[in-house]
Amino acid sequence: MKILHVVGARPNFMKIAPVMREMSRHPESFEQILVHTGQHYDEIMSDVFFEELELPRPELNLGVGSGSHSWQTAEVMLRFEPVVIKHHPDWVVVVGDVNSTLACTLVCSKIGVRVAHVEAGLRSFDRNMPEEINRLLTDQIADLLFTPSQDGDQNLLREGVAREKIHLVGNVMIDTLVRLMPKAKARWPSLQEDLGLGRFLLVTLHRHFNVDEPDALLEILDALSEISEEMTILFPVHPRTRQRIREFGIETNKKDLHLLDPFGYLDFLALQIHADLVLTDSGGIQEETTYLGVPCLTARPNTERPITIKLGTNRLVDTTRKALVDAFHDKLAEGRESRNVPPLWDGHAAERIISIFKELNRDSFLT
Ligand code: UD1
Repeated sequence: MKILHVVGARPNFMKIAPVMREMSRHPESFEQILVHTGQHYDEIMSDVFFEELELPRPELNLGVGSGSHSWQTAEVMLRFEPVVIKHHPDWVVVVGDVNSTLACTLVCSKIGVRVAHVEAGLRSFDRNMPEEINRLLTDQIADLLFTPSQDGDQNLLREGVAREKIHLVGNVMIDTLVRLMPKAKARWPSLQEDLGLGRFLLVTLHRHFNVDEPDALLEILDALSEISEEMTILFPVHPRTRQRIREFGIETNKKDLHLLDPFGYLDFLALQIHADLVLTDSGGIQEETTYLGVPCLTARPNTERPITIKLGTNRLVDTTRKALVDAFHDKLAEGRESRNVPPLWDGHAAERIISIFKELNRDSFLT
């Protein structure tokens, strides 16, 4: 089977890595090509992950870069179409919910190339999120849907997706976490020393509703300033958030509120493992903290990963200054809850995906 994998933005790399790794253990069955759309292009948002996750260099980088959502989606489509036509793969594998995911799926659906979507079925039910639109549309037109949790299956069935397309395989992001945990742990002593860390709150924020409006961003940074009087805060700042802080002329001059560049995968995982608390608006970090049993506050009105609340350590929090400060105190007082890992978040999701592809291959020979 000729498989063309697509990655575009930071959260894609840790999802495709275990799938490619597992397929490369079966060279008799799979020929693989990796294409990077170039949605993320900085060393710290992209290159470092290839090295740390041991991903092969992409055969091709489409070099799309940043722009409005429509521009970015359209540009990926224009540049991706000739690549699929040239390689004519049996399957295109897309992951997650970024603009590149939808753009490449759309291209394939128009020219009759089959698409498998890894991390299908997640829904926030909030259509103001560009990622929700990407998820809904990708899942409607993809041919094979690999879900990380049971709620994903239920969402897809409710949307009329045929049952035979849906496969509950577990969470590929956790495959990467499980594999690289020892390496991340080994980095902790030097990281701890370099950053002079004791107890700390780890923060990431990049969603448009938190960072694109001056008042919203200011309110969150005010809360962080207040919290930093009690606990050191490490805030690796996404390029989008960095731009906004600069644009809005916001000053942050608290001694223990550290605005840093984004970390690579291993250092960030080491920081999550040792954080007293995490505050985020990312999807993947809600899952990683649940797996690790680290308390997490999610600065969003909803989540497409309800299992992290139901079973895990996650709690949604309003983004007013008072709500954030109160939630910080409450969550810290609760301490570490008992660790509850969702079913099939066991480090073997990619193996299950590969078995399904192999079955499909066998069936296509039989018919
Ligand atoms: C994208 C994804 C989001 C994911 C996030 C992880 C969509 C709709 N959103 O959001 O789901 O959680 O990536 O990071 O696809 N920038 C750089 N360097 C880079 C990449 C981006 O400076 O390497 C800046 C650009 O100025 C750009 C801004 O960040 O305008 C936003 O980048 P973009 O990829 O459009 O969206 P994200 O906010 O990163």
